[in-house]
Amino acid sequence: MNDHLNRLHSLLDRFHAGNEKASHPEAQPSESDQLAAYIVWLDIEPMIPERTYSIDFQTETTTVQVTDLSFKIDVNSLSQLAAKKLEQDEIGYCKLSLGQRVSFDTYSSNQKTGFFTVLDTFNNSIIGVGLIDFSLRRAQNISWHKTNITQEIRSKNKQQKPCVLWFTGLSGSGKSTIADELEKKLHELGKHTMLLDGDNVRHGLNKDLGFTDQDRVENIRRIAEVSKLMVSSGLITIVSFISPFRSERLMARKLFNDGEFIEIFIDTTIEVCEARDSKGLYKKARAGQLKNFTGIDSNYEEPEMSEIVLQNSDSNIDDLVDNILDYLRTNSNI
Ligand code: ADX
Repeated sequence: MNDHLNRLHSLLDRFHAGNEKASHPEAQPSESDQLAAYIVWLDIEPMIPERTYSIDFQTETTTVQVTDLSFKIDVNSLSQLAAKKLEQDEIGYCKLSLGQRVSFDTYSSNQKTGFFTVLDTFNNSIIGVGLIDFSLRRAQNISWHKTNITQEIRSKNKQQKPCVLWFTGLSGSGKSTIADELEKKLHELGKHTMLLDGDNVRHGLNKDLGFTDQDRVENIRRIAEVSKLMVSSGLITIVSFISPFRSERLMARKLFNDGEFIEIFIDTTIEVCEARDSKGLYKKARAGQLKNFTGIDSNYEEPEMSEIVLQNSDSNIDDLVDNILDYLRTNSNI
């Protein structure tokens, strides 16, 4: 790790020799949950903004998201390049949002302590190292307002235990059909529900997002936050998105209390999805007319810890929905 830090230090010496370094009033030891930093990325998987990683300062460890990748530095020409992600060995200038406030030094005030390591949330391996430039004070004047009416009170009024039923699976696996039918049955039982469907949300809130890995990460981050709001309003919230990456599914899970996040993997093989091809998208993807298509040239990471797994190759939709209703009854959600 020291090698990487030394490399970063000497690059920044050269970089700042050519570019007048802005002086920041906060370039002092500081406490904050937002900061600006230089990062050298070490992992074979690229760093994607808004993805949740762990970050280790010498004294504290918390979660981190890169909220803005301002630029990456060309190590030869030292020019600043626009970037959407950081590949292995690339160096970028980033704004970071931390899971909690931490105290830290800036690297210009203390070369020995003004650094951090970025860790993989699954196996804790080091995937990046960084030098702290300065602390951002953005969120400093915002505090949580405790409301009189809580999730518990809202739920009591609705006579149900809210939760999120998070459907994941390939395009054409049957997520939307099962989710739609499930909501209908819950409605017949007098339950209060909301259905968030990928295709629909992408017409409004997420219409600025496409299908690159970065856009899918942001798509799921927003939906996780929206479903958290829906659950706190007391609703049984059904989410139907491909949600192809385990990292974002874990991030969504961690937003909720134990038992509130119920992952439902619609385990339909790609062969069956492709044979169905109800929207004609597999055909387009195979013909090269549609890039980054899940299961073809974009990854689907199969879930390993879903609460419910449904095989949907030649199953009866009513039976699958009954499986989910049984789970909800067993866990006293309905
Ligand atoms: S996710 O990967 O970001 O979770 P999401 O569920 O919102 O995806 O959207 C998937 C829907 O978008 C699919 O059901 C399909 O109709 C449509 N779609 C269009 N282009 C693609 C693509 N490249 N990959 C997957 N789905 C696509």
